[in-house]
Amino acid sequence: MKKITIGFDVYGTLVDPLEMSQYLHTLIGEKSKPFAEIWRQKQLEYTFRRGLMSRYQDFDVCTQQAMQYTMEYMDISFSSADKNDLLKLYTTLQPFSDVVPALKALKQSNYTLVAFSNGVQSTLKTLLSNANLLDYLEDIVSVDALQTFKPNPIIYKTLATQTGVELTDCWVVSSNPFDVIGGTSAGLNAAWIQRDANNIFDPWEYKPDITVKDLIEFAARLQ
Ligand code: 2OP
Repeated sequence: MKKITIGFDVYGTLVDPLEMSQYLHTLIGEKSKPFAEIWRQKQLEYTFRRGLMSRYQDFDVCTQQAMQYTMEYMDISFSSADKNDLLKLYTTLQPFSDVVPALKALKQSNYTLVAFSNGVQSTLKTLLSNANLLDYLEDIVSVDALQTFKPNPIIYKTLATQTGVELTDCWVVSSNPFDVIGGTSAGLNAAWIQRDANNIFDPWEYKPDITVKDLIEFAARLQ
């Protein structure tokens, strides 16, 4: 079988950053959900802005600075210990329920599965180990080595070169529409994981090659 790489976006696709609202709940009650959502949006905004400005600071820094912004925006103050605990808990996010069965099926079918993320290599290793996903993944392709962020096309091309395949033999699988658009625009195949039917895909000229409701459906479509 021809070698085909599948690069799985991590935050939002394999694990859910909004799961942080569970931990935030004990600290701030009903404000936990908006806090987790603003935190995530700001984190991504910081990656986009730092990428555009060529002012790279890694994803852990973006996460920490976005948490600080959200605290100030919502007029909430956490102790240093709470802040450290929250950032530690960010490395214990658990996989969505469809992830393990899908990775198992795809691995059995001899696809080359890798994590493909804005995250820091060492942090991703801890996160994916805590989520018990490392056994399914042959590699972790992180933007960290390139000192910029998705959706810079160089990141997507690196997914193909680092795993030794042509762009056309490479899939980006992501719940994040900007990531799917980044992949198709760079010449890769891309699948959009639309876990929530209310999620909207950006009305740009780049469309996903396939749209599925979860990774199990993605695996079934590829078999
Ligand atoms: C990731 O690269 C974009 O958060 C997303 O894991």
